[in-house]
Amino acid sequence: MYAGRVAVVTGASRGLGAALVGHLLANGATVVGFSRGDATLEAAGYSHHALDVGDERAVRSAFVQVGRAHGRLDILVNAAAVLTSIHALVMPAESAEAMLRTNVLGVFLVSREGAKLMRRAGYGRIVNIGSMAAALEPVGDSIYAATKAASMTLTGVLAKELAGYGITVNTLAVSALETDMLRQLPRDQVDRVVAGLPLARMATPEDIFNVLDFFASPASSYVTAQSIFLGGVHT
Ligand SMILES: NC(=O)c1ccc[n+]([C@@H]2O[C@H](COP(=O)([O-])OP(=O)(O)OC[C@H]3O[C@@H](n4cnc5c(N)ncnc54)[C@H](OP(=O)(O)O)[C@@H]3O)[C@@H](O)[C@H]2O)c1
Repeated sequence: MYAGRVAVVTGASRGLGAALVGHLLANGATVVGFSRGDATLEAAGYSHHALDVGDERAVRSAFVQVGRAHGRLDILVNAAAVLTSIHALVMPAESAEAMLRTNVLGVFLVSREGAKLMRRAGYGRIVNIGSMAAALEPVGDSIYAATKAASMTLTGVLAKELAGYGITVNTLAVSALETDMLRQLPRDQVDRVVAGLPLARMATPEDIFNVLDFFASPASSYVTAQSIFLGGVHT
């Protein structure tokens, strides 16, 4: 499905990002992963850049290297994010700042630099990983939910700005997937939220691959600025 395609995935070292890397590789893509830590995968077709997506210089330099190594970029998945879930009255400013930096500025910088490479070929698929938090606005997630709403707004504006270059930009909003991020939250709280979903179960990686494949398909050239919420959540 992805033979001959080059993809960048942020947050590639763990959780959903790592699962998406595996899916893209298994389907023939060449994949470049970004995360602050070192690579957690050694595989044919995979290379890794240890960088902070909020660091403009590092992001720029990584995309220059992607351009040199592969000469193109077809698919970009913004999966890197951080979460501190805590009542607003006791939310440390540093935690709020880290979420804004990674989940909003990081998505912007990576999309901007990725789009410069995509523009060369007049083709690209940017998929921003969103969250049901943007729709449900859970207690404790004031900043996290706001960053995921901001990422949807970014999706909408970038979709307009990049449409003329053959680049689509969409949001794949995840409900709940078993990862380190989810395990930070009290289990009873997660179970309550999941039980309240129209489709009352956790997401599986395959649920997410299915929507990624749709957004990333060349056939989806008329699909941009859209958000798909897994599990039946809606805004
Ligand atoms: N899991 C869920 O239930 C759930 C639900 C809704 C939405 N989501 C969304 O799904 C995406 C993936 O989440 P996850 O659950 O897989 O999280 P995770 O297990 O915590 O993994 C986060 C990944 O992002 C990387 N990362 C964090 N900050 C970074 C930074 N500043 N620069 C570069 N890489 C950074 C981490 O690697 P390093 O630590 O090495 O940097 C790691 O690879 C996120 O966008 C999240 O908001 C998840």
